[in-house]
Parts: sequence; structure tokens; C-alpha cells
Amino acid sequence: MSGNQESGCLTFYVNGKKVTERDVDPETMLLPYLRKRMRLTGAKYGCGGGGCGACTVMLSRYQVHSRSVVHCAVNACLLPVCQLHGAAVTTVEGIGSTKTKLHPVQERIAKAHGSQCGFCTPGMVMSMYTLLRNKPQPTMEDITEALAGNLCRCTGYRPILDGYKTFCESSNCCQNSGAKSCSSGNSISENNSNCCQQNGKEPGRANGNEVTDDLENGHLKLFNIDNLLPLDPTQDLIFPPELIRMTESGLQATQTFRGERITWVSPVSLDEVVDLKSRHPEAPIVIGNTNIGLDIKFKGILHPFIISPTRVPDLFVVKNTPQGVSVGAGCSMSVVRAALEDLVRTLPLGQTEVHRALLQQLGNLAGQQIRNVATLGGNIVSAYPNSDLNPVLAAGNCRLTVVSKGGRREIPMNKDFFVGFGKTLLNPDEIAVSVFIPISRKGEFVRAFRQAPRKENALATVNAGMRVRFHDGSSVVDELSIFYGGVGPCTVGASKTCQQIIGRPWGEEALTAAYPVLLEEILLPPSAPGGKVAFRRALTLNFLFKFFLQMQQKLAEMGIITDDLEQDMRSSLEALPNDFLPSYQEFQDVLEGQPGQDPVGRPMMHRSALSQATGEAVYCDDMPKTEGELFLSLVTSTKAHAKILNMDVSAALALPGVVDVITARDIPGKKFRMFCGMNEELLAEKEVTCVGQMVCAVVADTKPHAKRGAAAVKITYEDQPELVFTVEEAIEKKSFFEPLREIERGNVSEGFKMADHIHEGEIRIGGQEHFYMETQSMLVIPVGEEGEMNVYLSTQHPAMAQDSIAETLDIPSNRVTCHIKRIGGAFGGKVTKTTILACITAVAAWKTERSVRLVLERGEDMLITGARHPVLGQYKIGYMKDGRITAADVKYYANAGNTADESPLIVAKILLHFDNAYNIPNMRGRSAACKTNLPSNTAFRGFGVPQCMLVTESIINDVALKLGRPAEEIRELNMYRGSSLTHYKMPFDPENMLRCWEECKRRSSIQRRRGDIAQFNQHNRFKKRGLALVPIKYGIGFDIAFLNQAAALVHIFQDGSVLVNHGGAEMGQGIHTKMQQVASRELRIPTSLIHISETNTHMVPNTCPSAASFGTDANGMAVKDACETLYKRLEPIRKRNPEGPWQSWIKAAFLEKISLSATGYYRGHDLYMDWEKQEGQPYAYFTYGVCCCEVELDCLTGDYRTIRTDMVFDIGRSINPSIDIGQIEGAFTQGVGLYTMEELKFSPSGVLYTRGPGQYKIPAVCDVPLQFNIYLLRGTQNPHAIYSSKGIGEPALFLGSSVFFALKDAVAAARSDAGLSGPFEFHSPATPETACLACASHLTQMVPISKPGSFQPWAIETP
Ligand SMILES: Cc1cc2nc3c(=O)[nH]c(=O)nc-3n(C[C@H](O)[C@H](O)[C@H](O)COP(=O)(O)OP(=O)(O)OC[C@H]3O[C@@H](n4cnc5c(N)ncnc54)[C@H](O)[C@@H]3O)c2cc1C
Ligand code: FES
Ligand code: FES
Repeated sequence: MSGNQESGCLTFYVNGKKVTERDVDPETMLLPYLRKRMRLTGAKYGCGGGGCGACTVMLSRYQVHSRSVVHCAVNACLLPVCQLHGAAVTTVEGIGSTKTKLHPVQERIAKAHGSQCGFCTPGMVMSMYTLLRNKPQPTMEDITEALAGNLCRCTGYRPILDGYKTFCESSNCCQNSGAKSCSSGNSISENNSNCCQQNGKEPGRANGNEVTDDLENGHLKLFNIDNLLPLDPTQDLIFPPELIRMTESGLQATQTFRGERITWVSPVSLDEVVDLKSRHPEAPIVIGNTNIGLDIKFKGILHPFIISPTRVPDLFVVKNTPQGVSVGAGCSMSVVRAALEDLVRTLPLGQTEVHRALLQQLGNLAGQQIRNVATLGGNIVSAYPNSDLNPVLAAGNCRLTVVSKGGRREIPMNKDFFVGFGKTLLNPDEIAVSVFIPISRKGEFVRAFRQAPRKENALATVNAGMRVRFHDGSSVVDELSIFYGGVGPCTVGASKTCQQIIGRPWGEEALTAAYPVLLEEILLPPSAPGGKVAFRRALTLNFLFKFFLQMQQKLAEMGIITDDLEQDMRSSLEALPNDFLPSYQEFQDVLEGQPGQDPVGRPMMHRSALSQATGEAVYCDDMPKTEGELFLSLVTSTKAHAKILNMDVSAALALPGVVDVITARDIPGKKFRMFCGMNEELLAEKEVTCVGQMVCAVVADTKPHAKRGAAAVKITYEDQPELVFTVEEAIEKKSFFEPLREIERGNVSEGFKMADHIHEGEIRIGGQEHFYMETQSMLVIPVGEEGEMNVYLSTQHPAMAQDSIAETLDIPSNRVTCHIKRIGGAFGGKVTKTTILACITAVAAWKTERSVRLVLERGEDMLITGARHPVLGQYKIGYMKDGRITAADVKYYANAGNTADESPLIVAKILLHFDNAYNIPNMRGRSAACKTNLPSNTAFRGFGVPQCMLVTESIINDVALKLGRPAEEIRELNMYRGSSLTHYKMPFDPENMLRCWEECKRRSSIQRRRGDIAQFNQHNRFKKRGLALVPIKYGIGFDIAFLNQAAALVHIFQDGSVLVNHGGAEMGQGIHTKMQQVASRELRIPTSLIHISETNTHMVPNTCPSAASFGTDANGMAVKDACETLYKRLEPIRKRNPEGPWQSWIKAAFLEKISLSATGYYRGHDLYMDWEKQEGQPYAYFTYGVCCCEVELDCLTGDYRTIRTDMVFDIGRSINPSIDIGQIEGAFTQGVGLYTMEELKFSPSGVLYTRGPGQYKIPAVCDVPLQFNIYLLRGTQNPHAIYSSKGIGEPALFLGSSVFFALKDAVAAARSDAGLSGPFEFHSPATPETACLACASHLTQMVPISKPGSFQPWAIETP
């Protein structure tokens, strides 16, 4: 031990205020500390595991050696408070506010319409703010890198990038003002000029500002880049001088923190660390906490003693020598990166092979926030199977220096270093001090490879480091070293493969001999954990092939070999395109003569965007803790189907803080909820039917106590034999929720007879997790009088929650008030599931007579609340030689899970939409909701339509592949034309759909680009481009008539201010903003006079769900009705005093006893569907859209990039184009996730593996199309909805499938090179695995495929 005094006292600053803390519990992370202790609720909980960025804050520290302050974006959810000594934390509240002054970072994301539900916004703001603190004039690349660790589920990221692009220095741009091509090297696309400063402005049009009537060349703009607040460094908080003095004084004392379960020691010298480690060899060394933090939080691993040497200088030294560089093991990835970049700049190129390969991996390793804390030593010693650094360090002959009481030693990081999962050669008492990275020698080359489920911020599926050294001046291999990650329990070497090649000249021959050896050496059993076995094995071959090509090119460049790389192979070595082009958003101008004050039809910023960007917006869990409040934690089934024999809660009740355990027996009223006529137990009593089913709940004084209590409940089960997981099993066992649906048009048998060809096929469409950024949250407060309950919750259907709680507690509905301020994203997932959770929470509040809060952790939310239904579509079609489809017989099987929920309605909607845009004269659809032992699936944006239409479009695609024609030709040929009838006999006019189609073809120059793509594909063997043009016809409204009604309540106060209440819940879709616009038009007053506080069941009763893209249609009419009533009441006063002002009318009205409060009501359309007669009018009207996407695919990895997206939408006369375009882009991006990325994985025993952003990938900034154009169809009207607008929340999601079909098109081109033609299996999501394997390259075909049934796969197929 050093002579320093021990102390557990921390000094740090938060937003400029000094904080002194004694004896912090080491388990306290900065996020809950900020949110609960400091009441700074701007930083949000999205996942708790470093994967979403919602909790991003800036951490600043003074560095003595450089005498400078370093600012880093970090995830507060993984940062232990006891590591904060000497640091300054800045949260979103610390940089600006609506009360004082906004920071430009806050203003620009809001004004650019980059905040919808706003839950991700503070995190985005802080990532960008930190970037600007470090680099006030960033490049576009800097911005996308800074935001790579921040997820947003609403916006599609384009507006966020557009807002932040305004910070880019003009010198980073071509300065062409849209005239010529940009310095980024992009070529000018034919209808656009191409200046990156043009910022989305079309010549003569511009891109964005909420300010009414911002005009350019007489047209409205979406977002105005003029008049933005300038970046003003004087606005930033200064780094506290006290912390500089403290750090410079060098007075460091060992700190010890003792919590309930963990003791945390922060030593100040290496000797002390060595001493501690010798006494506590089992204690982890924690600096970044990105591995140990997750262990403790999610895996329940307890480390009672932790050594945290963040202040031990020896671990942070970077020392250059002529032989190489020694990097301290405690250095963060960002520091390592900066040090290597420095060396690459200064050393001769030939000496920095390992450095550059490491840099390549570091650029893709996690997001910025993780890289800023995760350490080099931690990455090495954690020995993850898919560590990105270890394969390169191993291949690069790097060495690790370790120290212990026994002394120092240097360990080569070779094949013997990694000994198993999470294990290295280090002894338990050894500490990694530094890593030595040697300079490269002459003739030596090192390369790194990586493939991940998402291009950025995702752990690699497979990665590799490869090093070769050629014999002097020749192509003969002297040394070769190959290491892979992701293909075994740890980093593995391929030494036998290397031996095959060593001593031979670099060439096809050596490589051909090596492949079979590699396949034998890197063996993955068919049931290997992580699955994707064939893909992973193919990647090992493909990486070696890429390395071969790279070296071949290198040898040719050096003049050692004469055969240069073949022309069509060169692109295999190039990265996918990554440069953004300007995007256009075009919309209709308001009608001539519309008063300037009338906001309808004009872009207007989301009314809460500024509050969201400053962290002031209040979400459910941001509400302060109430007196005596308890936290609820759920106990869920670990069995897929079992009888509950016993439930022992005694151990839980004995734990500190635990107050009670709630079981089904405690429910005073109804123990069930009824959905679609079927009961669903709130808490399982006798039997469980899926893993994740709720059995009981523990309430305790704090969240950690409740969690520990829940973990201590012991349930004894008796397994039941009958298990059904897949739809095939359900079909076999006839396990369905009734009713099964069927619909037919024409005569299908006749249609088949008529056809020239018959084709049969099937497609599987995986499910989709809602991944709303705000997990299910609620707070139930018993009023304590006459059974009244105040319920604050995050739901799309407050009335359902109200009625259900009342039934559950056996009290009248008039005692329960549900309040919804705003929802951090919902997408259909916050209707039925939230209701059940609210009922359970209410029982706990009722029983304990205390307020009870429930906020699900991300993993719990994903496990419990279900997802979009996976669907199996099977089809038989008849078609003519010319491509006309004469008959289609389609069966849809949706995996509903263990309860009915809304599944019967979803499978019905599937049959109402399966015609999509096509007039197939003879078609039959049958659909079934399969009852399985998986968690119950529920509504999700589109309600079955995205699944059913994918089947329809696959049918079209198959016909095109059969006939060898572009799919858009077959689509066009089969479309509805002229006055038409749907297959359920609803008349409609498809004119606007056809207009969208033609306009999209024109806007995207499809004909020319088809030619360009064909040329590209001809000249590139392993990079292929593909294109698809996909239409949608989407019915708006509920086919159950009563769900289309809405009500509103509008009050005018004496000062003239107006309060609007309506039944819609604000979940990011901007309904409150639109209602404000409606009220503004009707009352002829500015929006600034109109406020919308919350959705409240006592203000507006009996509301319908905010769903089905119908919220604005219904509530808008109700608000309009109320405002019309009020305006009419003012008529006599207005007539008397036409000049007003408004305030004087209101004052007069009050004095004249005119009521200033009115309700509004909208009855809605009488929509229906008669399934007996197979006819109806289930929709009020159709929204139409068409999307064209082009992608470039790397056939060797399956990675792809959407190069360009053009979408044309008919949404009538948009009430708010900025909001509607936001809905289109966001839904499209969610669709891209559904069809190409998002995978829910279940174990063979029905356990969900994918329970967080680590395992489940949603689109991130790296997935934004490089050019993303939206055009709202001009000259269109809609007599069926308010102000001639149309619903748009859901339809665009399906158009994400244009990326799926573009990928399929690219794959078809690759298959054609492999000699394959015609339809092929291509299931959704088309992940890199699907795409790469479908390309069927010569290497992929070498991978032996295990016979299905001969092994148990790691994961089951749910559809
Ligand atoms: C969201 C997320 C994304 C990620 N993405 C990637 C990715 O894309 N690629 C990738 O490679 N990794 C990725 N990681 C893993 C990350 O790189 C590692 O968790 C990190 O490097 C571990 O370092 P740490 O300092 O945080 O370790 P800690 O959690 O602090 O410690 C981890 C382990 O290392 C040991 N250890 C740490 N330092 C020493 C030392 N000096 N001597 C001896 N033992 C030591 C500890 O005892 C402990 O067992 C990701 C992690 C997260 C949370
Ligand atoms: S909550 Fe911290 S990264 Fe998700
Ligand atoms: S606005 Fe980004 S998650 Fe909702």
C-alpha cells in the first residue's frame, strides 16, 4: 500500500456545480445518480448497457501532461459514480435551456425536425455538443462518427444529419453552391446539382425551417438555415479551476467505497494495484466498466471486490521506440486511436502496417461513447470471441507486458495467448500494463477484416487479422499469420492454413490449396452458439480471398508480379460508397390566398422539439419520486409450457427493502383482460405458456431492491410435453386462434387453368421488436379517497388502460384517471401490453396503498411485451407469358405467441391488404394466427400489412425472375387502373397511385439507372448493384366502426390563451402540433396562444387508440368541431368589434356570460367488413406511395449501402409537411430494419436471446440512404379527411421493402455470374448472412451444409 490516506470522498462537478459525495455505492451509475439524485432527467435510460446512446453526457478531465482539458462523450449508464473524482460532467441541461438561452446544438436538431418523440434527442445533442467542443467545424464524417453510438427509432436520422450538417465548415465543401461536383468526389446525379453546402436545397427550393412562411423563390421551406444561433464558445461552461488545481497538486489518495454488496478500491500507484491484486486475485480490474458493468447488471455476476486503477499513471503511458510503440493497457480506445493516427502520420508508411490495421478496426469498434472509456487492456483480457483488436494484435506479433508480485513478464500475443472463452494466459494476480505494437518490416503487410450485423456500432459476426511477409523482392511467402474472431470461444489462429501457403508464391494455386485446410481448421459445429454457421464459415474463406486480392494488388504495384488484379475484381477491395448527397423534400405549397397566420399546410416544428432538445420535456419516468413510492419488478416464467407447482416468496420478502409480492390472488377484480374475445391472464396462476410470461411482481423501496427481490422468488414448475414454437408446428397441431379468415375474388381454379405458367413458392418474414426508445413506464398513485387512482403512463390507449384498471380493481372507471404527457415512441407496442402492465402496477398500488412505479428494463421489455408477428407466406400463382398474373392462392400463417392479443385482427387486416396495388382477377387469401409457446405478439405499425405485402411483392418478383424481366414491368402490368373494386368490393380510384408510380419512375430516372446498373454489374464480380420500385396502397381507418370516433375539449381562458384536449396520445408523430394547427386555423389565432398539456381520460373520455394512422383524421375533426362552436359563440362580439383583438373578444365574452369551453365530437366513418359476404368498406380512403431504392452489395460480406432512395407519396394536402415527411422517413427506416436487419432469435426451448441493442440491431446513422428524396404528390385532394389531408403514420414502413427487393436484385445479378437464374429463396430480413449466402459465390458453395434435422440449431425459425 502507498502511504496515501484512504478516503471515500469524491469531488466532481455537474453542470458547473460542485458535488461532494462520501461513500457512494459502487453499483451506482452516473445515469440514475443524475436522474434520481440530482433531478437532472435530460439523460435518458434506453438500454442501460451502452448500446443506444440515450444517456450520453460529456465528461471532461484536466490532463496534467498536456495542460489541457479533454472532453469525451460517454454513456452515463455504464459510468460508475465512484470513478468521477476530478471530473466535470455536462448534461443536456448544462448547455442551454428554453428559459435562458438555447445552445445551437439544441436549436438546430429541433428546427431541422430531428426530434419526434424526443427520447433520443438529449443523447444526440450531447454527442454532437461534445464533438463541437473538440472540433467546432466538423466534417460530415465527423458528425456521422459522433452519432454512430446514438439510436433513434423515429426519425430515420436524415433530419438530424441535415440539422447538424449546418455546423460543417464551408471549406469542407466544394463551395460550388450547387453548380458542379463536390470535393467529396461524388458525381453529379442527373436531376440534382451536387454541392454539400446546398444542404438539401433543390435549386429554387430549400430544406427546412419551422418558421411560418420562410420562402425561397416564392416556395415554402422545410427548414431555414438562415437565422440559426451561431456557435458561441463563450456560452460553454468553463472547466472548473478547482479541478485543475486539484489535479495539478498531484495529491492523490487511495479511495475506497463500500456499498451494499461491493467494495471498490481506487488505488493511485501500480505497486498498490499489484498488492491489491495479489490479495484479491479474483477481483476484476475495472477502468472502462464496459464488460464488468454489463456482467453485474445483466448477468447477475457479483464481484464483491473491484480494483479500479483509473488514476495509476503507469497504465496510461504511450511510449515510442525505434522498434515500435508501447501503449498503456489503461488507455481508452480513443486514446489508442489518436496515438496510432499520430504514428501513421509521422512514420514511413511501410512501418505502420499493424497500426493501420488496428486503426481500421478501431474505427468500427462500438460507438464513440464506448471507445472513449473501453480500454485496450480490458479488450484484450476480456478475450471476447469477437474482439476486434485481438486478431490483429495476434497476427501483428504484438506483445503484452504484465506485472504481479512475481515480477514483470512479456507475453507474445500468439495462438497460445487465448485459451478459451474470456480466458488468456494471464495469471489471476497479473495486471496488464502495456501492449507493444511493433513497426512492420520490409515486405510485411497486415490487413484487418470485419463483418457485423450493422456497419457501425455492432460487434463483429466474424473478424480477422492477417499478416504476410514476402521473401525479399519476391512473391514467395516467408511468414503468414491468420487469426479469426467470431468463429470459436476465443480468437483463433489458422496456423495449418498458413503452413499450406508459407514457402509458396502468392497465387491462385496456393490459395486453392489453402481453402479446404481452412475449412477443416476453423470448424464450427452446426449448432454453434450464435448460429449463422454457414455464413461465418463462408466469411473465413471470403476474408482470406480478400486478403489474397489485396496482396496480389500490392505485389503488382511493387512490380513483383506482372498479373495485376483483374478489372472486375478491383471493386471487391473498395469500401462501399459512403458520401452523402443532398436530399430533397418537396411538398405542396399552401393554396393561394391562405392567410399568413394560418399554419395549416405549412411546415411547423414539433411543438415540444425545443423542450425535448433541452431535456426539459417530461416523460413518465422523469416525474419526481412521490412520498413513500415503491418500485415494481416482475417475475417471469423461465418455462415455455409448465404447470406452476409452487411459488416460494419467503426469500424475497426477507430481503432489505422488499415490501410485498403481488400474485394473481391479490387481484380484487377481474384477473383477466379480454382481447378479441379471448381472456389473457394478468399474472399466471396455475400454468405458464411461454418464457417471459408474468407470474408475480415484487414491490420494494428501490429499483435494485425490487430486482433482487424478484430474483429471489422461487417457482417450481412441472414441464408440460406439448410445445409449439414454429408456425409449421402450429399447422401440424392445428394450434390456431379463431377465427381463421379467408377471402376470394373471381375463380382461382379457373385462373390457374387460364395461366401459361404456374409457380409455387414461400417466404418467411421474421418478427420485429418495437424498440421504442422509452421502455414501458408507468406510475400509479392512489389518491387515498374513494378508491381514486391517478395513473401516469406511456400508452397509446389511455381509455383501455383506465377501464382495465377499474375492472381489475373492481372500481368504477370514474375513479381512474390516466395521464399521458408524451410517449417516447410506441409503434403499436403500447396498447394491450401497457394495459396489462398498468393493471398489475395498479394492483400493487391498491394493495400497498402506496405509489408504485414500473419502468421495464430493455431486456425485460423485449422479453415480455412481444413484437411484430413473424409470418410464413405460401403461394401458388398462375401467370401469362407476358407477365400478367391470372390467379394467386396465398396462405399466411402468423406466429401469434401464447395469447390472442390482437392477432385475429392482424390476420384479418393481412387479407384486406394482400392485393396491394394489383388487380389480380382471381385471388384467394387465407390467414391464421398460430398459437405457440412464444411470448404473445401484438400490434406493430402496419398491423400485418408489411408482412402480407412482402409476400405479394415476392410473388411479383418471382414472376419477373421467371420471365427474366425487371420486376417493375411486371408490377406495372398488373396494377389497378381506372375505376376499380378491391377484392372486398370497395370502390376506389387508383389514379393517384398511378401518378405516384409514374412520378417516382421519372424522379428516379429508373430507365437510365437500370442501364447504369447493368453496366456496373457487368464490370464488377463481387460488388453488385440492384434497384427496386415498389408501390403501396394502404387503407386508412379502423374497420370496426366505433373506433373511428373522437372527442375534444377546448377551453379559452380569460387572457385569451387556449387549452386543447383531445383523445390522441403524443408519441412523436406530432399529433399535438397538428391539433394546435387545426385550432389555430379555426380560431384564427396564432399557435403561440394554444397549449396542449397532456392526454387525460377525465378531460376527454372514452378515447380510441392512437393507431391505424387515423389519429389526426379523427381528433383533428373533433378539435375543429369544438373550435368552430367556440368561434361561432363569439360571433356577436366579433361583429360588434371586428378588429378585435382576440383577447378583447374573450374578455367581452366572459363578461357577457358566453361559455368559453366547448366539446367537439367526430363520429367517424361507418366502416365495416362483412367476412361472411366477403365485402365491406373497411377503410375511409387509401394513402398511396411508391419508392425506388438502389443499393450496392458486397457479395463477399453481405454488407450493403442504400445509395439512393426516391419516394413519392400521395398524402392529400399535408397539414404539416415537416411532420409528415418525418413520418415517411421514420417509417421507411423502420421498414428497412424489418426487412434487412432486425432479427429476433429464440433458443430451441423458447427463450428470447435478443434482449437489447447489443444483440438486436435497428437501423443507425450508418443506414441512412446516401441520397434520400421525398416528394409529396402535388395537386391532390382527399375529401374524406380533415383539410383534405391523409393518414401517413404507417404506410411508408412497407416501402422499406424496396431496399429488400433492391438487394434481391443485386443478389440475382451475382447469381447470374455464378450461372444461376430464376426465382430463389430470399427470406426477410435480408441480413448480410442472407444476402451473402444467396449470392452463391464459388467460396460460399465450398462450405458444407449440415443436413436439417441432423442437429439442433442454436436458434429456431419462428415464422
Ligand atoms: C455497447 C458495446 C459495444 C462494444 N462493441 C465492441 C466492438 O465492436 N468490438 C470490440 O472488440 N469490443 C466491443 N465491445 C467490448 C469492449 O471493447 C470491451 O468491453 C472493452 O474493451 C473492455 O474494456 P474495459 O476497460 O471497459 O473493461 P472492464 O469492464 O473495465 O474490464 C473487463 C475485464 O478486463 C480485465 N482487465 C481490464 N484491464 C485490465 C488490466 N489492465 N489488467 C488485467 N485485467 C484487466 C478486468 O479484470 C475485467 O475482467 C463493446 C462493448 C460494449 C458495451
Ligand atoms: S441507456 Fe446508456 S447507452 Fe442506452
Ligand atoms: S425521436 Fe429519436 S427515438 Fe424518438
